[in-house]
Amino acid sequence: MDRHRIFDGTMARIDDDVKRETLARTDIATYIGSYVQLRKRGNDLVGLCPFHGEKTPSFHVHPDRGFWKCFGCQKGGDVLTFAMELEGLTFPDALRMLARRAGVAVEDETPAAARVRGEREQIYAANELAAAFFHRTFRLAPEGAVARDYAAKRGLTAATIEAFKIGYAPPSWDALLGELRAGGVDPEIAAKAGLLKRGERGFYDFYRGRLMIPTSSSTGEIVAFGGRALDDSEPKYLNTTTTPVYTKGRGLFALNVARRAASASDSLIVVEGYLDCIALHQAGFANAVASLGTAFTPEQAAELRKYATRIFVCFDADAAGQAATSKSVDVLSNEGCVPFIVQLPAGEDPDTFIRTYGAASFQTRLDSSLEWIQFKLDREIDDLLHKRLPRAQAARTAEKLVRGLPQLEWDRWRVYAANRLGIPPDDLRNARFIADGANFAPRGMVRHVAPAAEPPAMEREILAALVDEPALAAEYADRIPASTFADARYRRIYDALCAMRNAADGAAGVYAALDDDREAVAIVASLQKPDRSSKVRFQDSAARRAHLDRVVEVLTESRLEERKRELDRAMAESFAAGGTVPVEERDEHRRLVEELEKRKKRRLATR
Ligand code: GTP
Ligand code: MN
Repeated sequence: MDRHRIFDGTMARIDDDVKRETLARTDIATYIGSYVQLRKRGNDLVGLCPFHGEKTPSFHVHPDRGFWKCFGCQKGGDVLTFAMELEGLTFPDALRMLARRAGVAVEDETPAAARVRGEREQIYAANELAAAFFHRTFRLAPEGAVARDYAAKRGLTAATIEAFKIGYAPPSWDALLGELRAGGVDPEIAAKAGLLKRGERGFYDFYRGRLMIPTSSSTGEIVAFGGRALDDSEPKYLNTTTTPVYTKGRGLFALNVARRAASASDSLIVVEGYLDCIALHQAGFANAVASLGTAFTPEQAAELRKYATRIFVCFDADAAGQAATSKSVDVLSNEGCVPFIVQLPAGEDPDTFIRTYGAASFQTRLDSSLEWIQFKLDREIDDLLHKRLPRAQAARTAEKLVRGLPQLEWDRWRVYAANRLGIPPDDLRNARFIADGANFAPRGMVRHVAPAAEPPAMEREILAALVDEPALAAEYADRIPASTFADARYRRIYDALCAMRNAADGAAGVYAALDDDREAVAIVASLQKPDRSSKVRFQDSAARRAHLDRVVEVLTESRLEERKRELDRAMAESFAAGGTVPVEERDEHRRLVEELEKRKKRRLATR
């Protein structure tokens, strides 16, 4: 049956025994202390809770009894639940991860799978040994001087070199090979890890004379290396390709370092290059990661989404970078992230930008980052303007773009796109029905769009239903606030309807109630015209109710949306101010997004 083996050879049943053994061998204070700064208080250790925003510590660890508890948010548990909560791991994954750290081998798989896992563990060990060797060579070896000079020239501080375990592969064919042999690593395994190559005369070092940058998985194992040439020689980078523990171009560099800052601020900065990312960390942007490849994958996006919702994409300001940005934001938003685009001056990358302009300027760039939708629309609209399409065609194309967005966003971006194209938003809305060459406002004339003279159809439809059946007004009054009606005349009619004593009087009662309000009376009359512009014909009370129910849905939704936008702004502001967003706000934001999503799905399903 499912069994596991502890390294000292004893056999035990998976789950209970692995768990007991892992908990016994894991020092809870050390493990949690690697995430949370803990101070001693009596028998306990206390710190700021990583699961909710707080300024005074209510997060307690009891090392003797092996559990933790936050008196602020009431979360608590053992070291396993801590790992699950913080890393978003499932129970088996958390157990496996902690078991490995504690030296407890888990074999809850088929023998073949266990072999693969065993091989993975060996590869991690080989990478670990190699990274230590490279780092030592960088720091201490005489031949490491060139790398130290290079790092100094690139402005890397000692702390940065330590934090990222930056190393140097000496210009030798067998230095690492010898080191690995001495460390008991099978060269076959090291070759599978991408550290060695096999030639005609045996194994030789793959990385020679390069600055070595290790990449770790989010749980801390070293999975890959980037080796940068110290001069202009080609290739500039030699990177780990696909191995049993790493897929080429799928890594996220520094995620293991960035995750704490990322979940505290609910935001991540994604750049292209290793050194861009390192420069950002050195400048104090602790939530930076590098995508290490231009094509951003759904898996990478999903991985980022575990730690933060808002993703600031800051790729190089060249054509390739912009194209990659455009693709990446689609992938990110499909995975439920909210992408922002950080734009840099032409020819700069985050590393050169920070060195030229400083960290404060980079912060300014973050603050003025574009919402991804605007970035996408801008690219398309620039293209439209460039092509000088006939106006009707431009309007149709723009409307198609707008309709490609989440429906919640249509109104806002239709106005934006229309403004940029110099046409009224209604022309976009109706674009599908407008013939080529129809009489549009001349390009460039309409900068700001005047409010429509007619109140939106929705307001008219509400009143139309209520004028037909005034008894409904009292019934819906608490769900349809008077503030729904932007137009004062419409609001007066609505107020009169809600205040009507005798709804049985029907429309006649409405006229009586409005008596000397000529404007309002005229509107009620227009609402009653049989040929009213309504799309909806209210056959009977059921139809009217159905319509009003829908209206209530829409209103609730826009209130939720408004609140979400408020939070968006507040979160962006506190982020800009370098503060962290309170967990309550983040939670509310997430709940709102989920609720809005659910409503959207329901709407689509019932259509
Ligand atoms: P610097 O030029 O030293 O500032 O490095 P960078 O990290 O800014 O690199 P750059 O923006 O040029 O490239 C972004 C990323 O693409 C790098 O971090 C590498 O992962 C990858 N890359 C760049 N050049 C090469 C190359 O020649 N070969 C491979 N395999 N990958 C590369
Ligand atoms: Mn660079």
